[in-house]
Amino acid sequence: MLHSAGPGRDPLAIEAQAVRWAGDAIEYVDQRLLPHETVVRRATTAEELEDAIKTLAVRGAPCIGVFGAYGVAMLRAQISDDKKFEAAVARVREARPTAVNLRWAIERVLKSKDMLVEAQAIHNEQREIDRRIAEAAAELIEPRAAIYTHCHTGALATAGTGTALGTILFAARAGKKPRVFVGETRPLLQGGRLTYYELTQAGVDATLVVDSAAAISMQRKEIDLVIVGADRIARNGDTANKIGTYALAIIAAHHRIPFYVAAPRSTFDFTLESGRDIPIEERSAEEVATFGETRVASKGANAYNPAFDVTPNHLITAFVTEYGILRPPYGESIADLQLRPNMSALLSTS
Ligand code: MRU
Repeated sequence: MLHSAGPGRDPLAIEAQAVRWAGDAIEYVDQRLLPHETVVRRATTAEELEDAIKTLAVRGAPCIGVFGAYGVAMLRAQISDDKKFEAAVARVREARPTAVNLRWAIERVLKSKDMLVEAQAIHNEQREIDRRIAEAAAELIEPRAAIYTHCHTGALATAGTGTALGTILFAARAGKKPRVFVGETRPLLQGGRLTYYELTQAGVDATLVVDSAAAISMQRKEIDLVIVGADRIARNGDTANKIGTYALAIIAAHHRIPFYVAAPRSTFDFTLESGRDIPIEERSAEEVATFGETRVASKGANAYNPAFDVTPNHLITAFVTEYGILRPPYGESIADLQLRPNMSALLSTS
């Protein structure tokens, strides 16, 4: 089982370590098996790194960034031939196309003098970034707020303490007693498997709903706000996140419910003008044709299975970042964010 805080204990004290540099390998918790089994695996080659990311054994935008950073540092120590090293790095970098954190972290490591030290810095900074995001979100979450969230954005998804889910756990730690509606997040059920478990283990009031119950939940359950994470945010604020996020934003707008996106600066892609240019990963039809281990549709069923969608900026009330809350016009607030020093610079001067 995943070791987390347990009812009555600190909601942020999650002990499971998503990813760990183990000296000769990268150890990671296989998130596909959670919450029923906690299996720690080791990756020692580019193929194993690629496979862990592609199969979502390691998942969540910041977490795959940390994993890729350690991975590239490990591969550099193993492969002296530059051409072979570049090919190995490309395998890892291209394993998932939507989350920009993977590319961002790999580029940062490649540019550094000591790749392992840089990977460790990226990992350490994530905890501080997540803490600052949770602090910034505090003013948005009133006592006893009913919150709707989607997918999984906790400690295992960031290798820190979590973004959107971290803000909720932080509010719980502050005694605000949030009530959380968790969308199960078909097809891979990150909400049903991970978010619901993490909340209940932390003693937070959680209610699981199928994704298609989002509209009635917002209509009848007095939801105060929606908060989700992100995989890539363009310069104008258009946001790619887990499939279903766009629908949630439309439903929230219809019911005049604030819709927040919690994400670190590393999830903003300052090179992209709008969400039109965000590549959307399409996954296998098999994920749709099955429910867990059970086949639902006939063998060989045709399916469209985008892993992410893009929520247009006008549906987003605000972004919560480690540099505070960004509000529209996003062209301006995101341009300001780009000018901020990165967390490593901030931490080295504090
Ligand atoms: O396919 P996944 O499970 O990696 O998708 C994860 C999400 O969409 C999360 O919301 C996002 O990566 C932010 S994690 C802090």
